[in-house]
Amino acid sequence: MKGVILAGGLGTRLMPCTKITNKHLLPVYDRPMVHYPLRCLVNAGIDEVLLVTGGNFAGDFLQLLGNGKEFGLKDLHYTYQEGEGGIADALRLADDFADGGPIAVVLGDNIVERSIKPAVDAYRRQGGGARILLKQVPDPQRFGVPVFDGERIVRIEEKPREPRSHFAVTGIYFYDHQVFDMIGTLKPSDRGELEISDVNNMYLERDQLEWSELTGWWTDAGTWPSLLRASNLVAESGANKSE
Ligand code: DAU
Repeated sequence: MKGVILAGGLGTRLMPCTKITNKHLLPVYDRPMVHYPLRCLVNAGIDEVLLVTGGNFAGDFLQLLGNGKEFGLKDLHYTYQEGEGGIADALRLADDFADGGPIAVVLGDNIVERSIKPAVDAYRRQGGGARILLKQVPDPQRFGVPVFDGERIVRIEEKPREPRSHFAVTGIYFYDHQVFDMIGTLKPSDRGELEISDVNNMYLERDQLEWSELTGWWTDAGTWPSLLRASNLVAESGANKSE
């Protein structure tokens, strides 16, 4: 399976620092944010990765990551998202790279404590469709939130004012080739973006979306409080000790 890291967008919630660099190059504890999703994929046995970025500092990623060899990658590819049309808009750029095969997608500001290998294996056994990873959080209104009927997800609501469960849809997704046709039919949301939750809802309508619960801690790092939390979690857990 190939991997995709989405590191586009303008990072406006981390202004003024994102005036002079890309959000995913800001430090989380002792290394740049983008190292974490990269390592997440490598630790799960994925060694061919596409990095989607954008904005004014895209060239800095090449300087930082090179050809990815240092991380154990066989190949590291790059592409450029114009504007910030949303997560699904960025993912659209991975169509040729995926070449009809399944992909593991990680948002560039998502950080996990443990390996996602069990989810990769579960998705392989699933044999197609989509798989999302959920995590219980105290503030689900900041995320995509699943609505359950028993164990079954019936719908995913993006940043609901009144969340219907305590789960966040984390920024780690597994998709088959259908994802690109689905993205082609999306309309921008009220915030002007092509939403990944709309893609996940399309898989749900086709009864092709499975989920697992992520073990270990998980956080995004796209706001000042969550960036601080991410640094503290990494520092406290010694998540970098293996390097
Ligand atoms: O972190 C998980 C959450 O990520 C999910 O629960 C939500 O369903 C999902 O919509 C997303 O929510 P955010 O509003 O936090 O996403 P944000 O705009 O911060 O973007 C997250 C990452 O996606 C960002 O670090 C880079 C990538 N991205 C985002 C946009 C808007 C792109 O590559 N291009 C984009 O245009």
